Amino acid sequence: MKYENLTIENDGAICVVTINRPESLNALNNKTLTELEHVFDMLTDNNTIRVVILTGSGTKSFVAGADIKEFLEVAPANGGGVAQRGQDIFFKIENLNKPVIAAVNGFALGGGCELAMACHLRIASENAKFAQPEVNLGIIAGYGGTQRLVQYVGKTKAMELHLTGDMINAAEAQTLGLVNNVVPIEQLLDECKKIAAKIISKSPEAVAGVIRSINAYFEEGTNGYKVEVEEFGKVFNSGNFIEGVHAFIEKRKPNFK
Ligand code: COA
Repeated sequence: MKYENLTIENDGAICVVTINRPESLNALNNKTLTELEHVFDMLTDNNTIRVVILTGSGTKSFVAGADIKEFLEVAPANGGGVAQRGQDIFFKIENLNKPVIAAVNGFALGGGCELAMACHLRIASENAKFAQPEVNLGIIAGYGGTQRLVQYVGKTKAMELHLTGDMINAAEAQTLGLVNNVVPIEQLLDECKKIAAKIISKSPEAVAGVIRSINAYFEEGTNGYKVEVEEFGKVFNSGNFIEGVHAFIEKRKPNFK
C-alpha cells in the first residue's frame, strides 16, 4: 500500500511512523485510519522491527483528533460504526507484539489523546497538550478514551477531563501518570530512540510477554494471572532465557536473538 498520510522510516530495528497531515494538525481522517490499520497489520508480522515510534509531523501537533470536517459526511445513524472502527484499530496498536512509543509532539486532542493512550509508552515534548474535548462538539470520546483515561489517571480526573474538555499541559500529564516523560521537543525523537534501544536489547519473547500480560489485566473476562502463567511458560521455554541465565552466570551481557 502506498501511504498518502503516513511516512514510514526504518532506523535499524526501529520503525518511525509519522502521521503527516500538517494542514489539519494531523487529524485522523478515514484514509489515515485505514493507513494506520494497514501499517500496524504489517508490523505485527515483521520480525526485523522491534519497536515502533508513532508521532505527528511538525512541532505543533501530534494528532488534533478525529477529522471533525469529515464527521459531516457520516450518516447520523452510523456514529457507532465510526467509534467501533477506531476502537478496533487502536486495539491492534495496544495489542501489537512489540512496543509502540507515542512521541507526542504537540496537541494530543480527542482521538489524538486516545491514540497516544493506545500506545505502550508516551513521551511528550514540553509543548504537548492533552484533552478529551469531544463535549465541546456535543459528542463523547469514541476511540476508547473514556476507558483508557480512567486506567491512566483514575476516575476522578478522567471524569473531570471528559466533562469539561479542559486541556492539560505536558507537566500536568506527567504528574497525572498519563505520560512517562517530558523532554524538549528537539530531544523528543532521540529520547524515544534511546528507550527503544534499551527495549531492543532485551529478549523479544519477554517483551511480547510483558505486553500480553499487562494488557490482560484490563481485558474483560480474562484472568491476567493465568495469562502471566502462560506467558511465563513460553519465555521459560525460550532459547533467550537460556542465554539470559548463562550470561548472568558468566558475568557478561546477554546476546538475545
Ligand atoms: N479535524 C479537522 N481539522 C482540524 C482539526 C480536526 N480535529 N483540528 C484542527 N484542524 C484544522 C483547522 O480546521 C484548520 O484548518 P483551516 O486552516 O482549513 O481552517 C487547521 O487544522 C489549523 O487549525 P487552527 O484551528 O487554525 O489552529 P489553532 O492553532 O488556532 O488551534 C486547536 C489549534 C488544536 C486548538 C484547534 O484546531 C482545535 O480546537 N481543533 C479541534 C480539536 C478537537 O476538538 N479535537 C477532537 C475532535 S473529536
